[in-house]
Amino acid sequence: MSPEQGLSNSDVPWDSFDSDAYFESNYRWLLREDAEIIGIVADHFRRWAPRPGRAGAIDVGTGTNLYPALTMLPFAERVTLFERSLSNRAWLTNQLREPAESWEPFWAEMRGRPEYDRIAGPLDRLASCSQVVKGNLFDLAPRGYDIGTMFFVAEGITTRTEEFERAVRVFMASLTAGAPFAAAFMRDSWGYEVGCQRFPACPINEDDVQRCLAEVARIDAITVVDSRGLREGYSGMIVATGLVAG
Ligand SMILES: C[S@@+](CC[C@H](N)C(=O)[O-])C[C@H]1O[C@@H](n2cnc3c(N)ncnc32)[C@H](O)[C@@H]1O
Repeated sequence: MSPEQGLSNSDVPWDSFDSDAYFESNYRWLLREDAEIIGIVADHFRRWAPRPGRAGAIDVGTGTNLYPALTMLPFAERVTLFERSLSNRAWLTNQLREPAESWEPFWAEMRGRPEYDRIAGPLDRLASCSQVVKGNLFDLAPRGYDIGTMFFVAEGITTRTEEFERAVRVFMASLTAGAPFAAAFMRDSWGYEVGCQRFPACPINEDDVQRCLAEVARIDAITVVDSRGLREGYSGMIVATGLVAG
């Protein structure tokens, strides 16, 4: 039995998550998979988001990833970056003050769409309208936000299927009826290293995502972004887009 088996979300030392190591491995450079996901999500939000600049947006379990929040930026009046981990909240607060240059290629993937092109300084805008909020997603209040993202969280915070499913349901319930959402997942992940710590994951696939969302969403698309066997530890990424049922 590997050490991370049987871990629930509350068993994990989230406050000591090595934010710099996670950023360096995942967001220092734009990966092809993330570029593809950004295109899918930006097109979805353009189609369904409330009028530009009016929505209350939430990104759940932001970690050191600003691109989900950036995809919501044209439509948001305020953005909540909701995080359980102390180290990640501190990292986010610093990052909003002094963003890494590496976010530019992520934003470039959104360009070419009028809603995104209208924003001249996306990182300044994000810093001025966002708030880093401490919280546990399992305690999220219902119906608080008009648009939402949750990337690599539900399956990457527990080994337990029940918690994976509950995380998806609670995220969806935190959005208003009809709200557009995007959620991304690692496919078939059995856990991941961040610095010298190992974190749990629940190995799920697109059928699990479909099953979880079916009762709570009008699903627009569930797309598997193939990693072409280039990376170890998972077999691809899954991105689900849709509208909250209501
Ligand atoms: C695998 S990381 C994903 C980070 C980021 N969203 C991304 O796209 O790379 C999981 C994130 O969920 C956060 N997290 C873990 N449990 C949580 C909980 N119960 N409520 C909110 N955030 C949580 C962790 O601190 C971490 O930032």
